[in-house]
Amino acid sequence: MASTSLNLFSAILLLILLSKGMSQRCSTNDLQISQDKTGVLVQAQPEFEVKVLNACPCLQGNVKLGCNGFQTTDEVNPLTLLKSGNECLLNNGSSLIPFSQISFKYAWDTQFSFKPVSSEINCN
Ligand SMILES: *[C@@H]1O[C@H](CO)[C@@H](O)[C@H](O)[C@H]1NC(C)=O
Repeated sequence: MASTSLNLFSAILLLILLSKGMSQRCSTNDLQISQDKTGVLVQAQPEFEVKVLNACPCLQGNVKLGCNGFQTTDEVNPLTLLKSGNECLLNNGSSLIPFSQISFKYAWDTQFSFKPVSSEINCN
């Protein structure tokens, strides 16, 4: 009798944990990218500040943004954004903590549209 109710209890607990896990699942698309002109010119090019927000309750590491054609006259710290082929590695691959954002600046005559390409999600 006691073991039956214990089993029931642990089954319910498992269900609660599972449903919590489901609702907390996030994806690479939960990286919200916004940018604005800073008003500063760098080598005669307008400067932009890009903010990448991890809008989910899980860690997101090894974040890569599409970078094909990205150029800047403003030097970007490679630990923040490292261009490698058609992708840029964000934050040196380190995890973005939930609901935090990181930012970087670049300067070019046109705004570059950054899109998240991949990330490793850790919901522990
Ligand atoms: C950047 O990442 C590399 C590879 O993971 C690591 O060896 C290096 O220590 C990191 N640099 C900093 C400053 O965290």
